[in-house]
Amino acid sequence: MAKTPKTEKTPPKAGDVPQIDIGLSAADRRKVADGLSHFLADSYTLYLKTHNFHWNITGPMFNSLHVMFEGQYTEAWTALDAVAERIRALGYRAPGSYAEFAKLTSIEDAGADEGDRVEGTDWREMVRQLVLGNEAVCRTARKVLKTADNAGDDPTVDLMTQRLNIHEKNAWMLRSLLA
Ligand SMILES: [Fe+2]
Repeated sequence: MAKTPKTEKTPPKAGDVPQIDIGLSAADRRKVADGLSHFLADSYTLYLKTHNFHWNITGPMFNSLHVMFEGQYTEAWTALDAVAERIRALGYRAPGSYAEFAKLTSIEDAGADEGDRVEGTDWREMVRQLVLGNEAVCRTARKVLKTADNAGDDPTVDLMTQRLNIHEKNAWMLRSLLA
């Protein structure tokens, strides 16, 4: 019986960078990382809008909303880091510029015109926009969660579950102000 020749493997050299092999295919890692990039852009845009409204709110609701918005943007700011670092752990580059975020986000930025419209007019308009923003973040999180679940990427499923919990709660609390 003929012996099957052993396949020669080139032994790794000291200093070689090993290929990523965490048990997920490169295609699945790419799909999840793409989804997370959209999620990061949505989260960043909502973070900035919430901070903007914290600065620019006026009127009788100033104190309570100024404080409420601060709680939300502070929590969101910390979470951005975990999302970006998850993209890196999957082997891809995290978007990190205003141009990239503007291209990737599904949330409309509080532009100069919108800012003018909102400023000094109605706190309800700010709250309404933050309800919509938090709900948009939830919809994106649900999409990414599904993609990650199909890929067997539990850490991303876990991260998206945590973000859904926070943004659904934010949306509820903000919506309650308008009732
Ligand atoms: Fe402040």
